[in-house]
Amino acid sequence: MAYQITVIKGDGIGPEIVDETIKVLDAVGEKYGHQFNYERVLMGGESIDAYGVPITDEAIAIAKKSDAVLLGAIGGDTTTSPWYQLSPNLRPEAGLLKIRKELGLFANLRPAYLYEELKGACPLKEEITKGGFDMMIMRELTGGIYFGDRKTEEVNGVMKATDILTYDENEIRRIAKWGFDIAMKRRKSVISVDKANVLDSSRLWRKVVEEVAKDYPEVKLEHMLVDNCAMQLVRDPKQFDVILTENMFGDILSDEASMVTGSIGMLSSASLAEGKFGLYEPSHGSAPDIAGTGKANPIATILSAAMMLRYSFDLDEEAAKIEAAVGQVLKEGYRTSDIYEEGTKKVTTSEMGSLIAQRV
Ligand code: IPM
Ligand code: MG
Repeated sequence: MAYQITVIKGDGIGPEIVDETIKVLDAVGEKYGHQFNYERVLMGGESIDAYGVPITDEAIAIAKKSDAVLLGAIGGDTTTSPWYQLSPNLRPEAGLLKIRKELGLFANLRPAYLYEELKGACPLKEEITKGGFDMMIMRELTGGIYFGDRKTEEVNGVMKATDILTYDENEIRRIAKWGFDIAMKRRKSVISVDKANVLDSSRLWRKVVEEVAKDYPEVKLEHMLVDNCAMQLVRDPKQFDVILTENMFGDILSDEASMVTGSIGMLSSASLAEGKFGLYEPSHGSAPDIAGTGKANPIATILSAAMMLRYSFDLDEEAAKIEAAVGQVLKEGYRTSDIYEEGTKKVTTSEMGSLIAQRV
């Protein structure tokens, strides 16, 4: 079969990690007889430099027509890069928000788990992580405070800024369904995270999640306040299977969860629309400080491509093959700088990509 993939390399380490991922995808294509066609479009800083906007309508149209989008990372150093002198709607991140909204990518899946081989990098005490942990953060991605009206104004000589947080029940219901569907394929537990002791939007969230839960009698549902969740993630990460939450809470908690694993360079993500379409990118950012040094870890992006095969193309076997190849390379002791420990073999970004491609 032929699959059309829109490729966005982006900024910082984006191009290097995407190149390695394409190496691995091509190896999969060759082995299983699939053709992956890539069409490159620009987003973030690279698009600002070329066109003056963080994403063009043409780029969005190309993405819409394709089967899936593979993204590296976007953005630069927010204190030194000239991109951050531009007005907020022209900065790199605005491109990402726009593509999420325009492509209807409302369901963001961010897995966070402890790799047995990389346990040494986990910042938590061993007594807490004994037995490992494995959670999936389901973050709502096209609603909430990210997409509400916002303004900055002067009222009676005083500067005032407003950001509005709204959810309607349909937005909550569709992400909640995704959360329960995923939980059915995992350990059948959903912890829905909100701030229902303060926010109306959270009280509606809780009510709708409870309604959806009735259709999934096998899944155990609990509610947790977001501040408590932030604490529980470091106190006892094992308790989490699926964390279901709104946009901004998910943004914050997913960074925390990935740090807790000790290997943010290993964590993939998928942003899915209704149907099979999705955008796949690593959970980490563009790390401009190490761009071009060969230190970047391409594994998160490679594993995101595995998610693309699974969720957008229904190629489960091929996805599992990539994941197994990653596991094998780690077992053989190969490490990029970020996960290097004494006694292991340090390799560059491109060597890591080749090692994984060979094992596919
Ligand atoms: C993420 C990022 C984005 C977000 C930024 C770059 C706009 O932090 O994907 O988590 O806040 O959603
Ligand atoms: Mg974030």
